[in-house]
Amino acid sequence: MPLHVRIVIVISIALLMVNATLLVINTAATMDSHAQYARSYEIKRSLSSFQSVITAAESGQRGYLLTGQTGYLEPYYVAMRSWRSEIEKLRTLTADNVARQTDITELEEFTADAVSRLKATISSSPQPGPNGTADVAGTERATTTMDRVRGIVDRMMAEEDARIEALRREVLRDLLVAGGLALLTTVVTVAVLIGLNKLLLRYVAARQIAENAMLEANQVLNVQVEQRTAELTELSQHLIRVSEEEKAKLARELHDTLGSNLTAINMDLNWIQRRLPEGTREIRERLQRVLQMLTETVELKHEVIEGLRPSHLDNLGLAFAMRSHCREFTRRTGLPCEVDVQEDFDDLDPAWSIAFYRIAQESLTNIAKHAQASKVRIVLGREDGGIRLRIIDDGVGVAEESLSKPKSHGIVGMRERMRQMGGRFQIQRPAEGSGTMVEAFIPATNATAVSA
Ligand SMILES: Nc1ncnc2c1ncn2[C@@H]1O[C@H](COP(=O)(O)OP(=O)(O)OP(=O)(O)O)[C@@H](O)[C@H]1O
Ligand SMILES: [Mg+2]
Repeated sequence: MPLHVRIVIVISIALLMVNATLLVINTAATMDSHAQYARSYEIKRSLSSFQSVITAAESGQRGYLLTGQTGYLEPYYVAMRSWRSEIEKLRTLTADNVARQTDITELEEFTADAVSRLKATISSSPQPGPNGTADVAGTERATTTMDRVRGIVDRMMAEEDARIEALRREVLRDLLVAGGLALLTTVVTVAVLIGLNKLLLRYVAARQIAENAMLEANQVLNVQVEQRTAELTELSQHLIRVSEEEKAKLARELHDTLGSNLTAINMDLNWIQRRLPEGTREIRERLQRVLQMLTETVELKHEVIEGLRPSHLDNLGLAFAMRSHCREFTRRTGLPCEVDVQEDFDDLDPAWSIAFYRIAQESLTNIAKHAQASKVRIVLGREDGGIRLRIIDDGVGVAEESLSKPKSHGIVGMRERMRQMGGRFQIQRPAEGSGTMVEAFIPATNATAVSA
């Protein structure tokens, strides 16, 4: 992916993260503001409650002094018992506010003062009631102190109201700023994402073009490879055909020239041997040795000619040639070789005959060279709509890596022969036991000269 596309992706992710961070910060700020609101309202509720308590104390004292009924003292006593706990509640609520703590201390002092004055008026008024004597002067003093207490409470109330108002404004401002920021980052994010989308589309299109170009190049290459393969196949077919023709020609030449010469030499030497006078023992021995060597040379010539072009193949058919080669193999190596062929195959296309024969020849050579086998079996027959040749040994088997040895050409040659003929070639472990099975198959459709 190009660098600029990656940069834009990173920017998009960063913007989304900024958005998320802003959301978290705003939520935290809102929760904090909410807690402050709740605290201020709680303080206001406590101040009201405190105010009711001291008002109840004052009303109770007045009611008693005016009527002389002790029933009025009930709320007074309740207030007397509870005002300090109300103050403590307020102190706890404003624990984090030093200025408010000072207010509360002041409130406590004035309330204590007012309460003791109320108390004093009750004790200095032994006969309260409409006709009795009440401590009016003391009551006025108590009221004055109570007014100061009320003043402090009102001031604190007003301060909490102002605080609530300030909080409201602050929250509103924060909301506006946060909303604006969120809107801004969202707009920027959307713009960046649209840009990214365009870049990605362009990038995908460019990749598509590059892939198409690569595909086209590959196709061109494939066509070239196919052409070259066809040319090479043609060439190798030609080389194999030429090589077989050359070998056959050489075999004929050797047979016709060398063969007749060797026969003539043999006849002449035999003539000389018959006519040698008595007493030439040494010459006779030498001549015997020459004749022996000549016999060996004739055999060697025969082997060379057979190797070049098995004479049986052309004259007596594939089955006979296979059996003959097998016998020769056993004679040379001492390994028993069984040939399982149901018919003569003497009407097979010579190209197929020589291909099968060469595969059997190379397989037997490989067995002698590599297999360490104790027996060999060759099976040739019509199967699955074609002709199948199998050469099976019970030796050490072929290792996977041996099949691609760089300087080994036998297996490659066998495979190539089959490929050219449109057949199939396999080398594997036989279905039962150990060893190696070489398998060559030609479908009848390809073997034009295969008789049914
Ligand atoms: N019947 C077999 N049993 C065990 N190993 C085998 C057999 N046939 C082939 N191999 C292994 O496969 C390898 C390749 O065989 P291939 O005929 O291609 O080459 P090669 O015989 O080594 O040389 P050349 O080119 O002369 O044929 C051999 O070297 C051998 O290790
Ligand atoms: Mg070989």
